[in-house]
Amino acid sequence: MNVLLIGSGAREHAIAWKMRQSPRLASLCVAPGNAGIAQLADVAPLAIPKPGAGAVQVAAFLDAVVALARERRADLVVIGPEDPLSFGVADRLEAEGIAVFGPTAAAAEIESSKAFAKDLMARHGIPMGACARFDGYDAAAAYVESRPCDVVVKADGLTAGKGAIVTSSHDEACAALRDLMLHSALGAAGRTVVIEDRLDGRETSAHAFSDGRTVVHMPFACDHKAVYDGGRGPNTGGMGVYSPPSWLQASVAEAVRRDVTEATLRALRQEGRPYRGVLFPGIMVTAGGPRVLEFNARFGDPETEALLPRLESDLLEIMDAVASGTLASVDVRWRNDASVCVMLASGGYPGAYETGKPIDGLDDIDSGVLVFHAGTKRDSSGRIATNGGRVLAVTATGATVGEARERVYANVARIRFDGMHYRTDIGASEAVAV
Ligand code: GLY
Repeated sequence: MNVLLIGSGAREHAIAWKMRQSPRLASLCVAPGNAGIAQLADVAPLAIPKPGAGAVQVAAFLDAVVALARERRADLVVIGPEDPLSFGVADRLEAEGIAVFGPTAAAAEIESSKAFAKDLMARHGIPMGACARFDGYDAAAAYVESRPCDVVVKADGLTAGKGAIVTSSHDEACAALRDLMLHSALGAAGRTVVIEDRLDGRETSAHAFSDGRTVVHMPFACDHKAVYDGGRGPNTGGMGVYSPPSWLQASVAEAVRRDVTEATLRALRQEGRPYRGVLFPGIMVTAGGPRVLEFNARFGDPETEALLPRLESDLLEIMDAVASGTLASVDVRWRNDASVCVMLASGGYPGAYETGKPIDGLDDIDSGVLVFHAGTKRDSSGRIATNGGRVLAVTATGATVGEARERVYANVARIRFDGMHYRTDIGASEAVAV
């Protein structure tokens, strides 16, 4: 098969790496890709518009994807990130008769509009914390004052993981509302907000493949969203992941699969939005059971970099079956091991950062340890250099999370670039009972 993969992060590097192992793969083109992806696939330029882009820019993007798919004679187009899904890239490819892995814009609204997701959950009894949606600052601030607990303020639209502000006082919550609603800190994405009660518990990421009918669950994984050790500092797109969480009881895992993932896929189908692709609910496991924090309409990043090294089966076969509605015929197997992924970030991330810093140590990595590139490029002298906030995702596997952790940090210590920072506690609390 000829495959076109859209995206440029470590998630897409991990997907490309896993696809390369498939005997079904004839050619792989990734657009726009990065310096690491270019080592294992053709890369092609592609400008992916940001949320809020104008209709002309979006139309040009959709035309460019179709043209690239035709030029590469793609049998399957795989969409990595959320922004292209929200622009309707899957709808357009389907209309052109090109097979696509990724949901339609209507189905992807489960991620692109927090308000839609909350309303859907309310209509179908899917467990979540108390929440309300607001278009104006005064009513939102009054709601915050009325809550007997701390709250999380969430921008309604897509924000690359930066739209959930966890607050510890009503003053902090009102400051977040002012930033989003009055000062447009996150542009149009934050003019409507959802305010949720802050839930106590432990977070986990559930992932499942769906072809619209059949659901195949993946192992659970746990992201570390805050930038600094111990969960301190602002949220990022994700600083590291371990899988599986041994603290997650089997009965709770089953409740997530049944009452959240399967219930949501059924609800979307019933409401005329059948879902094809990966559904990734972010879950808080509370004393009262699992509650949905958010939905994502794609693989998590860096969850993918920890999950795919544990996948035994052929990823291309699975994705092809999702696109063609034949997932029930595929036997999907996972290895019974553990993985830890550590994200290496640019100085200043998730705030402002510089790029173009040469990266050393990439040729001094143990066999079996994986380095997935996120924001990287070749500089004018051909060296691999930084080109984004999150730069590299380093993953190791082992019999336990503890063993994978030791291996991954031994290798992280050999990689260097000016300003590099990372969390040193990814997976450290995995075995701590709750
Ligand atoms: N790691 C969180 C996300 O991909 O949204």
